[in-house]
Amino acid sequence: VARARRGGAMPMAELHCHIEGAAHPDLVLAHAARHGIDVSGIIRDGHYVWHDFTSFLAAYDLASSVFRGEADYADLAADHLGRLAAQGAIYAEFFVSPDHASNAGLPPAAYVAGLSRGIERAREESGIEARMIVVGVRHLGPEAVERAARFAAEPRHPLVTGFGLAGDERTGTPADFARAFAIARNAGLGLTAHAGELCGPESVRATLDALKPSRIGHGVRAIEDPELVRRIVAEGIVLEVCPGSNLALGIYPDAAAHPLKQLVATGARVTLNSDDPPFFRTTLADEYAFAAEVGIDAGTRLGFTRQAIEAAFVDEATRRRLL
Ligand code: ADE
Ligand code: ZN
Repeated sequence: VARARRGGAMPMAELHCHIEGAAHPDLVLAHAARHGIDVSGIIRDGHYVWHDFTSFLAAYDLASSVFRGEADYADLAADHLGRLAAQGAIYAEFFVSPDHASNAGLPPAAYVAGLSRGIERAREESGIEARMIVVGVRHLGPEAVERAARFAAEPRHPLVTGFGLAGDERTGTPADFARAFAIARNAGLGLTAHAGELCGPESVRATLDALKPSRIGHGVRAIEDPELVRRIVAEGIVLEVCPGSNLALGIYPDAAAHPLKQLVATGARVTLNSDDPPFFRTTLADEYAFAAEVGIDAGTRLGFTRQAIEAAFVDEATRRRLL
C-alpha cells in the first residue's frame, strides 16, 4: 500500500468478486461464437441485459456456460486481474464456483488449475496478487454446497484460501449450510457468506450464528438493526460492501440511500468491492469513486484498501508485503 501510494495512485484491493460475473461481454461473445451458443438474450449492444436478481442469476449462468476449458478460465482470470491492476489494484480475491464449471463440462480441479494459471500470468504481467474462494451456490441446496466445501478442503490447490456461500439468499436457512462450513473451517480455510443483501438483518444474524464467518458478503442491510451493528463491530466482522451491485439490483434506489457512509461511521470493518462488475456496469475504481461522491475522504478510502488486506485470506508474509 505504502509503495503504491508513493506512486501517486490510490492503491485498491478487493475481497468480493465472482469470476464468472467478471467476464466481459466481448469475451463471452467470443467464446459463445466458438462453441455455437446463443447469448443474444443476455448481451445486447455490448452490455448484459437482465431486470431483477433472478434474471441476473440466469444471465450469469448462461454467460458462465461459454467457458469450457482450462485455458478459457486462465484467460478469464488473467483478463479480470489485468483490468484490476490497470485501475491500481494490488490485491484481489475472487469467488470460484465448481458447480458452474461442472455444468459447463469442466471438472473442478481443471477449473481451478486454469484459474491458477491466470493468476500467475497476471502476477507476472502486473505484479497483482490474488487468491480464490470456492463458493457453494445456496439455491442448489446443502448437498451441492457440501460437495463444494469438500473440494475446497482438498489440500491440492494452494491459491484456494477460502470458502463461501453465494447464490439466492432467499432460499434455505444458514443452518442448512453449517456442515459445509465445518468442513471448510476444519481445513483451515477463511470463511465468508453472502447475507444482508436481498434479505434483512435477521439473515445476517442467523448467518453469524450458524456459520461463524469472519466476513459477510454485502451485509449492508445490517444497518437496519443497531444491536446487530454493535455485534458486528464488537466481533470485528468484516463487511464486503458492493455499492454498485446494490444500486444495480435495486437494493437501494440511489446513492444517497446507500448506507456505506453510515456503516463506516459505526466503526465496522468495511471493504469496497465490485461483485460482478460488467453485469452491474461498475469497476473497482468506480466503487472507490462512489465512496468519494458520498463524502468519504481519501484517508478513509485508503483505509478500505488496508482493511481488505488485513482481512484477506492470505499468508502472513504476503499480507505484510502488501501492507
Ligand atoms: N452470485 C453472483 N453474484 C451474486 C450476488 N450479488 N449475490 C449472490 N450471489 C451471487
Ligand atoms: Zn457477491
